[in-house]
Amino acid sequence: MGTLPEMPNLNELSFDPKVIKKDFPIFSQNRDKPLVFLDSGASSQRPTSVLDAMDDYYRTTHANVHRGVYALAEEATNRYEAARLKIGNFIGAPNPSKEIVFSKNSTESLNLIANSLGHGYLHAGDKVVLTKMEHHANHVPWIMLASYLGIKLEFIDHDEQGRLILDNLDQTLDGAKVVSLTLASNVLGTITPFSQIAQVAHSYGAIVVGDASQYVPHMPLNVKELGADLVAFTGHKMLGPTGVGVLWGNLKTLESMPPFLGGGDMIADVRLESYTPNELPYKFEAGTPPIAEVIGLGAAVDYLNNLGMQNIANHDRAIMKIALEKINDRFGDTIKIYGPKDYKERSGCISFSFENVHPHDISQILDLHGVCVRAGHHCAKPLMRELGVAATARASFHIYNDEDDVDALVEALAEAQRYFS
Ligand SMILES: Cc1ncc(COP(=O)(O)O)c(C=O)c1O
Repeated sequence: MGTLPEMPNLNELSFDPKVIKKDFPIFSQNRDKPLVFLDSGASSQRPTSVLDAMDDYYRTTHANVHRGVYALAEEATNRYEAARLKIGNFIGAPNPSKEIVFSKNSTESLNLIANSLGHGYLHAGDKVVLTKMEHHANHVPWIMLASYLGIKLEFIDHDEQGRLILDNLDQTLDGAKVVSLTLASNVLGTITPFSQIAQVAHSYGAIVVGDASQYVPHMPLNVKELGADLVAFTGHKMLGPTGVGVLWGNLKTLESMPPFLGGGDMIADVRLESYTPNELPYKFEAGTPPIAEVIGLGAAVDYLNNLGMQNIANHDRAIMKIALEKINDRFGDTIKIYGPKDYKERSGCISFSFENVHPHDISQILDLHGVCVRAGHHCAKPLMRELGVAATARASFHIYNDEDDVDALVEALAEAQRYFS
């Protein structure tokens, strides 16, 4: 998770976003204006190969998994389990067949973690440490535990550029039983010093949880090097389908955790008044899983692997640098950009606001130019309060975005500024 090399311009990259766009059918639909999609932080687009993988599965192979003993059901199970291995290898999981749990999304993975740790591991008065820039998905489940279990929440603070302040880290983490934080902020773009924090947290015996929702789609991740015990991410931000999320955990931690949901497939045996949980990872996969979505996510991982995650990270850095420069050059002090000033400290999003213009109005004007950006609180209301705003506009990038998209954003923003001045 170190800083990546300088990437001076998009022409030197190993892939051309214009060529990439051709793999994504949404960009070839007829529209009044070409689609400038700058909202991948909310949900990315998906390539034909992902759509085909799901379509082919439904057309040729669908049957429920882990149940039937007929050939079709076995083939469906094989495809589902092959995707598990692929996704595990993608993040360097040492035991992918046991350590990768499929959920509905990051939110469900994080709720699984909080609920499971809340049944036996955490007790009243225990300390759980978060940051003040967490998405609600990694905040509300812990608030819920605080309200019904009496755990205490503490927060690592950040500076005015959204960089975590580590001065009092020992004091904050001393006695913590769980430390749960994002690898990359969905609002500020901050890439957090996750591994450094994890190391200190482990020295105090805490379980360390990573929310990698905004990190996995953009940068290489190796869970062994990361130093987390549990990591959550979501399929639809990484070119995969909606409806599938991932929880990775090391064997020791996952084995110590009780199941989250009860039902089919998560049991080894059931008697009238008791049950025996299934082995990993099935004890956390109650009910029929999102089979086609898991297979689609496997295809998304193939697509990302073909491009190379380091190449993707380089692309994202290059476009971030260009976007920050062009926005700053054009709008100077009239725009407020949140998060680190140095593009090397950011992942693929820029949140901003113009004085006296509501972000929703900005987003609407941009939409008239075919430019899609998100406006709102980005599911990070405590952070919005701290920034002193109700909402921001956010442009977020992925592999199909190029300098023309940045130019379209800048021109549309200039129009919005003129309109409201
Ligand atoms: C940092 C972060 N964590 C968690 C989530 C939740 O993802 P999902 O809605 O797929 O559960 C998001 C989504 O925006 C996110 O940006």
